[in-house]
Amino acid sequence: MDGSLVGWDALAAWYDKKQGEEGDLWHRSLIDPSLIKLVGSVAGKDVLDLGCGNGYLSRKFAREGARVSAVDASPAMIECAKKHDPDGELDINYLVSSASNLESLKDRSFDIAYGNMTLMDFEDAESAIKETSRVLRRGGRFVASLSHPCFDNGKNSAWIMERVLTDNSFERRLYRRIRAYRQPSSEQFPWGISVIQKGFTRGYHRPLNWYARVFKSAGMAITALEEPEPTSEFLENESDGEFLLEVPLHIVFEALKL
Ligand SMILES: C[S@@+](CC[C@H](N)C(=O)[O-])C[C@H]1O[C@@H](n2cnc3c(N)ncnc32)[C@H](O)[C@@H]1O
Repeated sequence: MDGSLVGWDALAAWYDKKQGEEGDLWHRSLIDPSLIKLVGSVAGKDVLDLGCGNGYLSRKFAREGARVSAVDASPAMIECAKKHDPDGELDINYLVSSASNLESLKDRSFDIAYGNMTLMDFEDAESAIKETSRVLRRGGRFVASLSHPCFDNGKNSAWIMERVLTDNSFERRLYRRIRAYRQPSSEQFPWGISVIQKGFTRGYHRPLNWYARVFKSAGMAITALEEPEPTSEFLENESDGEFLLEVPLHIVFEALKL
């Protein structure tokens, strides 16, 4: 992997530029609308951003009146996030920490926690979910968007397209194939930094029943589940957009702390 950037620290500056203040196309016009809808009103609430990246959503929610704690395991990512609010005008407490060990955060101190495209990046997602439950108040909610375990399993999944002759015309049929679904697994995930340079981070596949079991054993009940649909902006600007009208590649959970 000569010349490749490996790990979130190495990718932080590039990722910061990619996400900017609104999120890239995939975030702002596909994934985030479902997550933001489930997060709901944040004014006056204590909100935890797990794996905040460059913090664009932390800043959005802080501007809406939330008191935000923004956690990321990558010191370089947290440095990028802080640079967006150099005078610390927004009510955001940045913290370099693994989501799997939130020891500096008190029990039952948050109303809402969210992780935007992060659970499948956490090596120990089970501990992260348990820690999230610990720091949520009873009745608090955890909202998590992630790669859809049923349809996006890295190299074990792909689009297949057929052109079938029906009534003298060709019909396009699209399929999503997936294998090794049941088995938790991990692989390097490639990011196209430029035409000549790639970055790699590690992703972790877990089947849906893994998430249901872990939420339950962490004392949380899944109360909503969204499969983000492409918006018109996404369809106009992403060549794979039409595919996602047929099969979702992302899922967003809401879980209630019991
Ligand atoms: C795909 S990025 C998403 C960032 C941000 N939520 C966004 O939507 O732009 C995944 C983030 O999770 C962070 N991360 C990975 N493992 C982590 C862990 N164990 N604890 C906390 N953050 C972690 C990475 O540093 C990275 O910023």
